[in-house]
Amino acid sequence: MRTYTTSRSSRVPLRSSSPSDLSSQEHSRKRPLSERLAFHNIPQPLKRARTTASRSTPISKHKPKPKHKYKSKEDRPPKGLTQLHFTIDSSILRTCSLCDLTYTKGAPEDETLHTSHCARVQRGMQWRRDEERSSPEAQVSEIATGVKLKDGKSGRIISVNADAGGKIGSKLATLLQTISLHLSSPPLTRDVLRVSKVYLFLLPSEKSLPGETIAGCVIATHISTAMAIASPAEVQGPAAETPSDTKPVQPATARLVSVDTNSSLFCRPEPLSTPMGIPRVFVPSAYQRRGIALRLLDAAAASFVHGCPLKPCRGEVAFTQPTASGKALMEKWGGGGVRIYQE
Ligand SMILES: CC(C)(COP(=O)(O)OP(=O)(O)OC[C@H]1O[C@@H](n2cnc3c(N)ncnc32)[C@H](O)[C@@H]1OP(=O)(O)O)[C@@H](O)C(=O)NCCC(=O)NCCS
Repeated sequence: MRTYTTSRSSRVPLRSSSPSDLSSQEHSRKRPLSERLAFHNIPQPLKRARTTASRSTPISKHKPKPKHKYKSKEDRPPKGLTQLHFTIDSSILRTCSLCDLTYTKGAPEDETLHTSHCARVQRGMQWRRDEERSSPEAQVSEIATGVKLKDGKSGRIISVNADAGGKIGSKLATLLQTISLHLSSPPLTRDVLRVSKVYLFLLPSEKSLPGETIAGCVIATHISTAMAIASPAEVQGPAAETPSDTKPVQPATARLVSVDTNSSLFCRPEPLSTPMGIPRVFVPSAYQRRGIALRLLDAAAASFVHGCPLKPCRGEVAFTQPTASGKALMEKWGGGGVRIYQE
């Protein structure tokens, strides 16, 4: 079976079961190849052709010698037997250190998929301005031009309907597929795409290439409710009143929803009315830490609801379960006000 996966598994959708148990759920993981092979790879003792007697033992004259022990040549055992060993330490799976994709080494389809995926994750995809006019139903709008980045370069931000068809639709589909693969997240459903907009940061391409490069992407979608992130004090809970107090105390996090135990990200379980969700944010590695994600989030918050700019610090925007860098971005952008919603 051929599997494309990424070694990062941080974006497992939130579960709606009981509060506080989200991160404790066991996520289905493929068993390592070595583990799967171990059972079958115990070297079996060689089955040698049994000799009934040694040369020194005289063969009884009365025992008639069988004329043909083997019916055909094929039945005869090979003369020199060789013990074969299955080497399990050289896996056929390879994980790329640049794009995190795990693929089957030597399988042409996998190698091709990896090459194109890796290029997109590092350097982004190309965008052609003339395509904007060819797909009017995509409703491409220019949100901002001359947007300056930290490195002095400037680009523009556009928004596109996430369920666009035609050439733009297939470009968006490839982009969304790349992002999902990179984040190990499920694809966004049609229902979600129907109420979503894609915000793209476009930089003029290098001299050798015509058009522009998609140097960042934010998906914004309509949601109804989200949960507020619990403060560090709520997560830690009050200090024990007296050291001699031996009464069993419920942990402070017992009434909170655990989003990510590694980063101690907990939410209050109450659903709060929230108009905009950010299910995906992605910036190719060559363009990271230049402020592109912040510029895109600003653009989405300012334009997603017509005539009503949204403020992340007031809890009007929510992320889905963030990755480590997504959490850092969320905190920098919303200063603790960004909420979390279930995708
Ligand atoms: C997360 C991601 C979108 C950030 O994009 P970006 O354009 O590099 O982010 P910005 O340059 O706007 O960063 C803004 C701030 O966010 C924080 N931040 C962003 N990436 C960070 C990282 N990898 N580590 C720590 N902090 C980070 C920093 O505070 C940063 O400000 P600074 O550069 O002045 O320190 C990008 O790293 C990415 O695509 N990662 C892979 C996909 C992913 O994890 N997406 C998030 C899904 S929730």
